[in-house]
Amino acid sequence: MAPLAVNLNRAIFASANNAGGVERDLQPKKGLDSRVLVLGGTGRVGGSTALALSKLCPDLQILVGGRNRAKGTALVSTIGRKSEFVEISIDNKATLEAALKNVDLVVHAAGPFQREEKCTVLEAAIASKTAYIDVCDDTSYSRNAKSYHNEAVAANVPAITTSGIYPGVSNVMAAELVRFAKSENVGEPERLRFFYYTAGSGGAGPTILATSFLLLGEDVIAYNKGEKIKLKPYSGALNIDFGKGIGKRDVYLLNLPEVRSVHKVLAVPTVSARFGTSPFFWNWGMLAVASLVPVEYLRDKSKVQQLVQIFDPLVRAFDGIAGERVSMRVDLECSNGKNIVSIFSHRKLSVSVGTSTAAFALAVLEGSTKPGVWFPEEAEGISVEARELLLKRAAQGTINFVMNKPPWMVETDPKEIGLGIYV
Ligand SMILES: NC(=O)c1ccc[n+]([C@@H]2O[C@H](COP(=O)([O-])OP(=O)(O)OC[C@H]3O[C@@H](n4cnc5c(N)ncnc54)[C@H](OP(=O)(O)O)[C@@H]3O)[C@@H](O)[C@H]2O)c1
Repeated sequence: MAPLAVNLNRAIFASANNAGGVERDLQPKKGLDSRVLVLGGTGRVGGSTALALSKLCPDLQILVGGRNRAKGTALVSTIGRKSEFVEISIDNKATLEAALKNVDLVVHAAGPFQREEKCTVLEAAIASKTAYIDVCDDTSYSRNAKSYHNEAVAANVPAITTSGIYPGVSNVMAAELVRFAKSENVGEPERLRFFYYTAGSGGAGPTILATSFLLLGEDVIAYNKGEKIKLKPYSGALNIDFGKGIGKRDVYLLNLPEVRSVHKVLAVPTVSARFGTSPFFWNWGMLAVASLVPVEYLRDKSKVQQLVQIFDPLVRAFDGIAGERVSMRVDLECSNGKNIVSIFSHRKLSVSVGTSTAAFALAVLEGSTKPGVWFPEEAEGISVEARELLLKRAAQGTINFVMNKPPWMVETDPKEIGLGIYV
Protein backbone atom coordinates (compact mmCIF):
# COMPACT_ATOMS: atom_id res chain seq x y z
CA MET A 1 0.00 0.00 0.00
CA ALA A 2 1.33 3.47 -0.86
CA PRO A 3 2.01 5.78 2.12
CA LEU A 4 -1.34 7.01 3.35
CA ALA A 5 -0.19 10.63 3.45
CA VAL A 6 0.24 10.60 -0.33
CA ASN A 7 -3.16 9.07 -1.03
CA LEU A 8 -4.94 11.25 1.48
CA ASN A 9 -3.48 14.42 0.01
CA ARG A 10 -5.44 13.56 -3.11
CA ALA A 11 -8.53 13.07 -0.95
CA ILE A 12 -8.08 16.48 0.64
CA PHE A 13 -7.84 18.13 -2.75
CA ALA A 14 -10.87 16.23 -4.02
CA SER A 15 -13.02 16.87 -0.94
CA ALA A 16 -12.23 20.58 -1.05
CA ASN A 17 -13.49 20.69 -4.61
CA ASN A 18 -16.56 18.64 -4.03
CA ALA A 19 -17.89 19.84 -0.71
CA GLY A 20 -21.54 19.68 -1.83
CA GLY A 21 -21.90 16.12 -3.14
CA VAL A 22 -20.51 12.66 -2.53
CA GLU A 23 -17.68 11.53 -4.79
CA ARG A 24 -18.33 8.30 -6.62
CA ASP A 25 -15.20 6.61 -5.28
CA LEU A 26 -16.46 7.10 -1.71
CA GLN A 27 -19.64 5.18 -2.40
CA PRO A 28 -19.65 1.40 -1.86
CA LYS A 29 -18.36 -0.49 -4.93
CA LYS A 30 -21.43 -2.67 -5.25
CA GLY A 31 -24.81 -1.31 -4.15
CA LEU A 32 -25.47 -2.03 -0.46
CA ASP A 33 -29.16 -2.57 0.20
CA SER A 34 -28.66 -3.57 3.85
CA ARG A 35 -30.97 -2.47 6.66
CA VAL A 36 -29.38 -0.17 9.24
CA LEU A 37 -31.06 0.84 12.51
CA VAL A 38 -29.79 4.10 14.02
CA LEU A 39 -30.66 4.27 17.73
CA GLY A 40 -30.73 7.81 19.09
CA GLY A 41 -31.71 8.62 15.50
CA THR A 42 -33.85 11.52 16.73
CA GLY A 43 -30.74 13.09 18.34
CA ARG A 44 -27.98 15.16 16.76
CA VAL A 45 -25.36 12.44 16.30
CA GLY A 46 -27.84 9.72 15.28
CA GLY A 47 -29.77 12.03 12.95
CA SER A 48 -26.59 13.30 11.31
CA THR A 49 -25.39 9.70 10.87
CA ALA A 50 -28.67 8.64 9.25
CA LEU A 51 -28.49 11.56 6.80
CA ALA A 52 -24.82 10.93 5.97
CA LEU A 53 -25.50 7.23 5.41
CA SER A 54 -28.37 7.98 3.03
CA LYS A 55 -26.11 10.31 1.00
CA LEU A 56 -23.13 7.97 0.91
CA CYS A 57 -25.22 4.94 0.09
CA PRO A 58 -28.70 5.74 -1.29
CA ASP A 59 -29.61 2.03 -1.53
CA LEU A 60 -29.46 1.49 2.24
CA GLN A 61 -32.71 1.05 4.15
CA ILE A 62 -32.39 3.33 7.15
CA LEU A 63 -34.50 2.80 10.24
CA VAL A 64 -34.52 5.79 12.58
CA GLY A 65 -34.97 4.47 16.12
CA GLY A 66 -36.06 6.67 19.00
CA ARG A 67 -38.71 7.63 21.53
CA ASN A 68 -39.86 10.85 19.91
CA ARG A 69 -42.18 10.09 16.99
CA ALA A 70 -42.53 13.71 15.84
CA LYS A 71 -38.75 14.19 15.55
CA GLY A 72 -38.28 10.75 13.99
CA THR A 73 -40.97 11.29 11.36
CA ALA A 74 -39.50 14.67 10.42
CA LEU A 75 -36.08 13.12 9.84
CA VAL A 76 -37.53 10.21 7.87
CA SER A 77 -39.29 12.63 5.51
CA THR A 78 -35.93 14.36 4.88
CA ILE A 79 -34.14 11.08 4.16
CA GLY A 80 -36.86 9.85 1.80
CA ARG A 81 -38.47 6.63 0.70
CA LYS A 82 -35.80 4.22 1.94
CA SER A 83 -36.32 5.28 5.54
CA GLU A 84 -38.83 4.63 8.32
CA PHE A 85 -39.25 5.51 11.98
CA VAL A 86 -39.25 2.80 14.65
CA GLU A 87 -40.50 3.78 18.11
CA ILE A 88 -38.07 2.22 20.53
CA SER A 89 -36.53 2.72 23.95
CA ILE A 90 -33.19 1.03 24.50
CA ASP A 91 -34.32 0.28 28.06
CA ASN A 92 -37.01 -2.07 26.76
CA LYS A 93 -35.19 -5.33 26.02
CA ALA A 94 -38.13 -7.03 24.26
CA THR A 95 -38.79 -4.22 21.74
CA LEU A 96 -35.06 -3.75 21.24
CA GLU A 97 -34.53 -7.40 20.35
CA ALA A 98 -37.62 -7.42 18.13
CA ALA A 99 -36.37 -4.32 16.27
CA LEU A 100 -32.97 -5.92 15.67
CA LYS A 101 -34.40 -9.11 14.16
CA ASN A 102 -34.37 -7.93 10.53
CA VAL A 103 -31.50 -5.50 10.69
CA ASP A 104 -27.96 -5.96 9.29
CA LEU A 105 -26.29 -3.28 11.42
CA VAL A 106 -27.28 -1.28 14.49
CA VAL A 107 -25.67 2.11 15.19
CA HIS A 108 -25.99 2.97 18.89
CA ALA A 109 -26.01 6.76 19.38
CA ALA A 110 -28.57 6.88 22.23
CA GLY A 111 -26.23 8.38 24.84
CA PRO A 112 -25.09 9.42 27.32
CA PHE A 113 -22.86 6.39 27.85
CA GLN A 114 -21.40 7.69 31.13
CA ARG A 115 -22.55 5.79 34.26
CA GLU A 116 -24.39 3.20 32.15
CA GLU A 117 -23.81 -0.14 33.76
CA LYS A 118 -25.21 -2.39 31.04
CA CYS A 119 -24.50 -2.63 27.34
CA THR A 120 -28.12 -3.45 26.49
CA VAL A 121 -27.84 -2.65 22.78
CA LEU A 122 -24.67 -4.71 22.33
CA GLU A 123 -26.27 -7.61 24.21
CA ALA A 124 -29.31 -7.45 21.92
CA ALA A 125 -27.05 -7.23 18.85
CA ILE A 126 -25.17 -10.36 19.89
CA ALA A 127 -28.42 -12.20 20.73
CA SER A 128 -29.90 -11.34 17.32
CA LYS A 129 -26.58 -11.77 15.42
CA THR A 130 -26.60 -8.17 14.21
CA ALA A 131 -23.44 -6.18 13.43
CA TYR A 132 -22.95 -3.28 15.86
CA ILE A 133 -21.21 0.07 16.24
CA ASP A 134 -21.55 2.65 18.99
CA VAL A 135 -20.40 6.26 19.42
CA CYS A 136 -19.50 5.69 23.06
CA ASP A 137 -17.17 8.29 24.55
CA ASP A 138 -16.86 6.77 28.00
CA THR A 139 -13.94 4.69 29.28
CA SER A 140 -15.93 2.36 31.57
CA TYR A 141 -18.62 1.73 28.98
CA SER A 142 -16.07 0.92 26.29
CA ARG A 143 -14.26 -1.49 28.64
CA ASN A 144 -17.57 -3.09 29.47
CA ALA A 145 -18.40 -3.39 25.76
CA LYS A 146 -15.00 -5.01 25.17
CA SER A 147 -15.83 -7.66 27.78
CA TYR A 148 -18.44 -9.03 25.32
CA HIS A 149 -15.67 -9.84 22.85
CA ASN A 150 -15.78 -13.63 23.23
CA GLU A 151 -19.58 -13.69 23.05
CA ALA A 152 -19.46 -11.64 19.83
CA VAL A 153 -16.85 -14.01 18.36
CA ALA A 154 -18.99 -17.04 19.27
CA ALA A 155 -22.07 -15.41 17.68
CA ASN A 156 -20.05 -14.33 14.60
CA VAL A 157 -21.00 -10.69 15.21
CA PRO A 158 -18.64 -7.86 14.14
CA ALA A 159 -18.78 -4.92 16.56
CA ILE A 160 -16.90 -1.66 17.07
CA THR A 161 -17.04 0.40 20.24
CA THR A 162 -15.98 4.10 20.37
CA SER A 163 -16.61 4.85 16.70
CA GLY A 164 -17.58 8.39 15.59
CA ILE A 165 -15.33 11.43 15.18
CA TYR A 166 -13.58 11.62 18.56
CA PRO A 167 -13.23 8.97 19.68
CA GLY A 168 -13.46 7.11 16.38
CA VAL A 169 -11.69 8.80 13.50
CA SER A 170 -9.07 10.12 15.96
CA ASN A 171 -8.22 6.51 16.95
CA VAL A 172 -7.71 5.62 13.27
CA MET A 173 -5.52 8.73 12.83
CA ALA A 174 -3.44 7.53 15.81
CA ALA A 175 -3.14 4.02 14.36
CA GLU A 176 -1.98 5.47 11.03
CA LEU A 177 0.60 7.72 12.73
CA VAL A 178 2.08 4.70 14.51
CA ARG A 179 1.99 2.56 11.35
CA PHE A 180 3.60 5.37 9.33
CA ALA A 181 6.33 5.90 11.96
CA LYS A 182 7.21 2.21 11.93
CA SER A 183 7.02 1.70 8.16
CA GLU A 184 9.02 4.85 7.33
CA ASN A 185 11.61 4.23 10.08
CA VAL A 186 10.69 7.51 11.76
CA GLY A 187 11.54 5.91 15.12
CA GLU A 188 9.92 4.01 17.96
CA PRO A 189 6.60 5.63 19.05
CA GLU A 190 7.06 7.12 22.55
CA ARG A 191 4.32 9.65 23.20
CA LEU A 192 0.93 10.11 21.58
CA ARG A 193 -1.35 13.00 22.46
CA PHE A 194 -4.91 13.71 21.36
CA PHE A 195 -5.97 17.36 21.21
CA TYR A 196 -9.57 18.27 20.51
CA TYR A 197 -11.30 21.58 20.01
CA THR A 198 -15.01 22.20 19.57
CA ALA A 199 -16.63 25.64 19.45
CA GLY A 200 -19.60 25.95 21.83
CA SER A 201 -21.65 22.76 22.07
CA GLY A 202 -20.57 21.85 18.53
CA GLY A 203 -24.21 21.97 17.45
CA ALA A 204 -24.74 18.85 19.54
CA GLY A 205 -27.80 17.94 21.56
CA PRO A 206 -28.31 18.38 25.32
CA THR A 207 -26.65 15.01 25.89
CA ILE A 208 -23.24 16.48 25.08
CA LEU A 209 -23.54 18.91 27.98
CA ALA A 210 -24.45 16.06 30.33
CA THR A 211 -21.49 14.10 28.93
CA SER A 212 -19.13 17.03 29.61
CA PHE A 213 -20.31 17.48 33.21
CA LEU A 214 -20.17 13.73 33.89
CA LEU A 215 -16.59 13.66 32.54
CA LEU A 216 -15.64 16.46 34.94
CA GLY A 217 -16.57 14.08 37.76
CA GLU A 218 -13.99 11.50 36.59
CA ASP A 219 -10.29 11.35 37.41
CA VAL A 220 -8.29 11.58 34.21
CA ILE A 221 -6.42 8.39 33.42
CA ALA A 222 -3.29 8.94 31.33
CA TYR A 223 -0.11 6.94 30.75
CA ASN A 224 3.38 8.19 31.45
CA LYS A 225 6.27 5.96 30.23
CA GLY A 226 4.05 2.88 30.58
CA GLU A 227 2.76 3.82 34.00
CA LYS A 228 -0.93 4.56 34.56
CA ILE A 229 -1.40 7.92 36.30
CA LYS A 230 -4.42 9.76 37.68
CA LEU A 231 -4.79 13.48 37.06
CA LYS A 232 -7.35 16.15 37.87
CA PRO A 233 -10.05 16.74 35.22
CA TYR A 234 -9.61 19.94 33.20
CA SER A 235 -6.05 20.42 34.48
CA GLY A 236 -2.76 20.43 32.51
CA ALA A 237 -3.64 23.32 30.19
CA LEU A 238 -1.73 23.58 26.92
CA ASN A 239 -2.03 26.08 24.09
CA ILE A 240 -2.14 24.03 20.90
CA ASP A 241 -1.98 25.13 17.27
CA PHE A 242 -4.74 23.40 15.32
CA GLY A 243 -3.54 24.96 12.06
CA LYS A 244 -5.57 26.38 9.21
CA GLY A 245 -9.10 27.57 10.01
CA ILE A 246 -8.82 27.02 13.78
CA GLY A 247 -5.54 28.51 15.09
CA LYS A 248 -4.21 28.22 18.63
CA ARG A 249 -6.55 27.03 21.36
CA ASP A 250 -6.26 26.16 25.05
CA VAL A 251 -6.95 22.53 25.82
CA TYR A 252 -7.30 20.64 29.14
CA LEU A 253 -7.04 17.02 30.27
CA LEU A 254 -10.18 14.87 30.14
CA ASN A 255 -10.77 11.18 30.81
CA LEU A 256 -11.41 9.76 27.34
CA PRO A 257 -11.52 6.10 26.27
CA GLU A 258 -9.08 6.41 23.37
CA VAL A 259 -6.21 7.07 25.82
CA ARG A 260 -6.47 3.64 27.38
CA SER A 261 -7.27 1.74 24.18
CA VAL A 262 -4.49 3.37 22.14
CA HIS A 263 -1.97 2.76 24.95
CA LYS A 264 -2.90 -0.93 24.98
CA VAL A 265 -3.52 -1.60 21.29
CA LEU A 266 -0.76 0.50 19.76
CA ALA A 267 1.67 -0.04 22.67
CA VAL A 268 2.60 3.65 22.99
CA PRO A 269 4.08 4.21 26.51
CA THR A 270 2.85 7.82 27.05
CA VAL A 271 -0.70 8.77 26.02
CA SER A 272 -3.12 11.57 27.03
CA ALA A 273 -6.14 13.47 25.68
CA ARG A 274 -7.05 17.12 26.01
CA PHE A 275 -10.11 19.10 25.02
CA GLY A 276 -10.93 22.78 24.76
CA THR A 277 -13.88 24.87 23.72
CA SER A 278 -14.78 28.48 22.93
CA PRO A 279 -15.71 31.19 23.72
CA PHE A 280 -12.79 31.09 26.18
CA PHE A 281 -15.10 31.60 29.18
CA TRP A 282 -16.69 28.18 28.62
CA ASN A 283 -13.28 26.75 29.50
CA TRP A 284 -13.38 28.82 32.69
CA GLY A 285 -16.91 27.51 33.31
CA MET A 286 -15.68 23.93 32.92
CA LEU A 287 -12.77 24.68 35.28
CA ALA A 288 -15.18 26.19 37.81
CA VAL A 289 -17.51 23.17 37.63
CA ALA A 290 -14.56 20.76 38.00
CA SER A 291 -13.19 22.69 41.00
CA LEU A 292 -16.33 23.84 42.80
CA VAL A 293 -19.05 21.24 42.25
CA PRO A 294 -18.66 18.24 44.57
CA VAL A 295 -17.51 15.10 42.77
CA GLU A 296 -20.45 13.07 44.17
CA TYR A 297 -22.81 15.53 42.44
CA LEU A 298 -20.98 15.22 39.09
CA ARG A 299 -21.10 11.43 39.36
CA ASP A 300 -24.88 11.39 39.81
CA LYS A 301 -26.64 11.25 36.45
CA SER A 302 -29.94 12.72 37.67
CA LYS A 303 -28.23 15.62 39.45
CA VAL A 304 -26.15 16.31 36.34
CA GLN A 305 -29.41 16.48 34.35
CA GLN A 306 -30.51 19.31 36.70
CA LEU A 307 -27.25 21.15 35.96
CA VAL A 308 -27.91 20.65 32.24
CA GLN A 309 -31.38 22.24 32.59
CA ILE A 310 -29.73 25.33 34.06
CA PHE A 311 -26.81 25.64 31.62
CA ASP A 312 -28.33 24.40 28.35
CA PRO A 313 -30.23 27.65 27.44
CA LEU A 314 -27.08 29.67 28.17
CA VAL A 315 -24.87 27.44 26.03
CA ARG A 316 -27.41 27.51 23.17
CA ALA A 317 -27.60 31.32 23.36
CA PHE A 318 -23.83 31.59 22.78
CA ASP A 319 -23.76 28.79 20.19
CA GLY A 320 -25.00 31.27 17.57
CA ILE A 321 -21.86 33.36 18.08
CA ALA A 322 -19.42 30.53 18.78
CA GLY A 323 -20.27 28.48 15.66
CA GLU A 324 -19.54 24.78 15.75
CA ARG A 325 -16.05 24.30 14.33
CA VAL A 326 -14.31 21.13 15.34
CA SER A 327 -10.68 20.12 15.14
CA MET A 328 -8.67 17.07 16.12
CA ARG A 329 -4.91 17.07 16.24
CA VAL A 330 -3.00 13.88 17.02
CA ASP A 331 0.73 14.17 17.79
CA LEU A 332 3.21 11.30 17.82
CA GLU A 333 6.70 11.74 19.21
CA CYS A 334 9.29 9.09 18.40
CA SER A 335 12.48 7.84 20.05
CA ASN A 336 14.84 9.68 17.69
CA GLY A 337 13.23 13.02 18.51
CA LYS A 338 11.14 13.16 15.33
CA ASN A 339 7.47 14.19 15.63
CA ILE A 340 4.61 13.61 13.25
CA VAL A 341 1.18 15.16 13.34
CA SER A 342 -2.28 14.66 11.83
CA ILE A 343 -5.03 17.28 11.79
CA PHE A 344 -8.72 17.07 10.88
CA SER A 345 -10.82 20.26 11.00
CA HIS A 346 -14.41 20.87 9.91
CA ARG A 347 -16.73 23.88 10.09
CA LYS A 348 -19.61 21.88 11.56
CA LEU A 349 -19.29 19.17 14.18
CA SER A 350 -22.98 18.31 13.75
CA VAL A 351 -22.27 17.33 10.11
CA SER A 352 -18.81 15.86 10.57
CA VAL A 353 -19.81 13.53 13.41
CA GLY A 354 -22.43 12.01 11.07
CA THR A 355 -20.06 11.52 8.12
CA SER A 356 -17.49 10.01 10.49
CA THR A 357 -19.95 7.58 12.07
CA ALA A 358 -21.39 6.70 8.66
CA ALA A 359 -17.84 5.90 7.47
CA PHE A 360 -17.54 3.32 10.27
CA ALA A 361 -20.99 1.88 9.49
CA LEU A 362 -20.06 1.37 5.83
CA ALA A 363 -16.70 -0.20 6.72
CA VAL A 364 -18.52 -2.79 8.86
CA LEU A 365 -21.15 -3.44 6.16
CA GLU A 366 -18.37 -3.86 3.59
CA GLY A 367 -16.88 -6.64 5.69
CA SER A 368 -13.81 -4.89 7.07
CA THR A 369 -14.56 -5.98 10.65
CA LYS A 370 -13.90 -9.44 12.10
CA PRO A 371 -16.32 -11.06 14.58
CA GLY A 372 -15.64 -9.71 18.08
CA VAL A 373 -15.77 -6.32 19.81
CA TRP A 374 -12.99 -4.01 18.59
CA PHE A 375 -11.66 -0.51 19.05
CA PRO A 376 -11.26 1.53 15.83
CA GLU A 377 -7.45 1.34 15.98
CA GLU A 378 -7.45 -2.46 16.04
CA ALA A 379 -6.73 -3.94 12.60
CA GLU A 380 -9.43 -6.58 13.20
CA GLY A 381 -11.92 -3.72 13.75
CA ILE A 382 -10.99 -1.54 10.78
CA SER A 383 -8.53 -3.42 8.60
CA VAL A 384 -5.38 -1.50 7.62
CA GLU A 385 -6.49 -1.61 3.97
CA ALA A 386 -9.92 -0.14 4.87
CA ARG A 387 -8.50 2.83 6.81
CA GLU A 388 -7.80 4.99 3.78
CA LEU A 389 -11.38 4.78 2.48
CA LEU A 390 -12.78 5.29 5.99
CA LEU A 391 -10.70 8.45 6.45
CA LYS A 392 -11.58 9.78 3.00
CA ARG A 393 -15.28 9.26 3.71
CA ALA A 394 -15.03 10.84 7.14
CA ALA A 395 -13.03 13.80 5.80
CA GLN A 396 -15.74 14.97 3.37
CA GLY A 397 -16.18 18.72 3.67
CA THR A 398 -13.17 19.24 5.96
CA ILE A 399 -11.44 22.62 5.86
CA ASN A 400 -8.09 21.06 6.76
CA PHE A 401 -7.08 17.43 6.72
CA VAL A 402 -3.44 16.44 6.88
CA MET A 403 -1.94 13.12 7.80
CA ASN A 404 1.53 12.15 8.99
CA LYS A 405 3.32 15.49 8.56
CA PRO A 406 6.11 17.09 10.61
CA PRO A 407 4.68 19.83 12.88
CA TRP A 408 6.52 22.68 11.10
CA MET A 409 4.42 22.00 8.00
CA VAL A 410 1.15 22.60 9.82
CA GLU A 411 1.84 25.06 12.63
CA THR A 412 4.19 27.11 14.77
CA ASP A 413 5.58 25.55 17.99
CA PRO A 414 2.90 24.80 20.62
CA LYS A 415 3.46 26.84 23.76
CA GLU A 416 3.03 25.01 27.05
CA ILE A 417 1.15 27.12 29.59
CA GLY A 418 0.80 24.49 32.29
CA LEU A 419 3.38 23.04 34.64
CA GLY A 420 3.27 19.60 36.20
CA ILE A 421 3.35 16.14 34.74
CA TYR A 422 4.37 16.16 31.10
CA VAL A 423 1.87 13.80 29.43
N1 LIG B 1 -17.83 9.31 19.41
C1 LIG B 1 -18.09 10.53 19.00
O1 LIG B 1 -17.48 11.03 18.08
C2 LIG B 1 -19.15 11.36 19.65
C3 LIG B 1 -19.27 12.72 19.30
C4 LIG B 1 -20.29 13.47 19.86
C5 LIG B 1 -21.17 12.86 20.75
N2 LIG B 1 -21.02 11.56 21.09
C6 LIG B 1 -21.96 10.92 22.00
O2 LIG B 1 -23.14 10.67 21.28
C7 LIG B 1 -24.24 10.63 22.18
C8 LIG B 1 -25.43 11.39 21.60
O3 LIG B 1 -25.15 12.77 21.53
P1 LIG B 1 -26.15 13.79 20.82
O4 LIG B 1 -25.49 15.09 20.73
O5 LIG B 1 -26.72 13.15 19.60
O6 LIG B 1 -27.29 13.88 21.93
P2 LIG B 1 -28.83 14.15 21.72
O7 LIG B 1 -29.08 15.06 20.57
O8 LIG B 1 -29.33 14.56 23.05
O9 LIG B 1 -29.38 12.73 21.31
C9 LIG B 1 -29.46 11.63 22.17
C10 LIG B 1 -30.51 10.73 21.61
O10 LIG B 1 -30.55 9.52 22.38
C11 LIG B 1 -31.90 9.20 22.58
N3 LIG B 1 -32.06 8.39 23.75
C12 LIG B 1 -31.60 8.62 25.00
N4 LIG B 1 -31.99 7.65 25.83
C13 LIG B 1 -32.72 6.78 25.08
C14 LIG B 1 -33.39 5.59 25.37
N5 LIG B 1 -33.42 5.07 26.61
N6 LIG B 1 -34.02 4.95 24.34
C15 LIG B 1 -34.02 5.45 23.11
N7 LIG B 1 -33.40 6.60 22.77
C16 LIG B 1 -32.77 7.26 23.75
C17 LIG B 1 -32.60 10.54 22.73
O11 LIG B 1 -33.97 10.34 22.47
P3 LIG B 1 -35.12 11.26 23.14
O12 LIG B 1 -35.23 12.44 22.23
O13 LIG B 1 -36.31 10.38 23.11
O14 LIG B 1 -34.65 11.59 24.54
C18 LIG B 1 -31.90 11.34 21.66
O15 LIG B 1 -32.50 11.15 20.41
C19 LIG B 1 -23.73 11.23 23.48
O16 LIG B 1 -23.57 10.20 24.43
C20 LIG B 1 -22.42 11.83 23.11
O17 LIG B 1 -21.51 11.88 24.16
C21 LIG B 1 -20.03 10.80 20.55
